[in-house]
Amino acid sequence: MKKLVVAIDGPAGAGKSTVAKRAAQALGYTYIDTGAMYRAVAWKTLRRHAPVTDALILDVVRDIDVRLSYHDGVTHVFVDGEEATDEIRTPEVSHIVSQVAALGPVREKMVDLQRAMAKEGGVLMDGRDIATHVLPNADVKIFLTASIEERAKRRYLELKDKGMDVDLAGIQVDIAARDKADSERTISPLVRAEDAVLLDTTGLSIDEVVERILGLCR
Ligand code: DC
Repeated sequence: MKKLVVAIDGPAGAGKSTVAKRAAQALGYTYIDTGAMYRAVAWKTLRRHAPVTDALILDVVRDIDVRLSYHDGVTHVFVDGEEATDEIRTPEVSHIVSQVAALGPVREKMVDLQRAMAKEGGVLMDGRDIATHVLPNADVKIFLTASIEERAKRRYLELKDKGMDVDLAGIQVDIAARDKADSERTISPLVRAEDAVLLDTTGLSIDEVVERILGLCR
């Protein structure tokens, strides 16, 4: 069977990575989490311990080496050879990542890497601009969303599960701010591609969403 290229976009906390991972596993495909790449740049920026300006971010991205290695259901993230898999998920990183992802030179570098990773097919890639910009010829395009309340609750439970001290209201405010920044930025904003299937996951179980994605791939 032909190895497909599957693009899944949607706002923060829509459950993209959870369902994309499971669907990729069922299809025997590689899962590529593009948000992790922008988070990697944000994490390296914070390590400079300086005010987060666009100039600082551009300096950080100039010679950054970001690698993703997906195995056993986990996307391992390496920045300049150092593993930062857990560190890129903190609220501090989430807080500045939209600023990082809005910069043209950051996006150009990450998009080049993403396209190279999808070249052989058999990939399921999630992000914000995959169907519209990174892989416009993807075989299957899905726009995954859910209500803001449900998305905040999912992110809250996910971080709490990892033992982080988090606050639900704060997460909802942060997600709303990221939605706005990601949708309104000039370069490759978060929008549903005209030919993407809209999948609202509010009230659906993970299994139900995975089943629908697999159905679209069949
Ligand atoms: O999916 P995530 O929350 O880990 O993504 C982190 C940020 O990266 C998100 O706020 C928007 C940005 N992003 C992007 O601009 N383009 C992508 N393809 C993926 C993520």
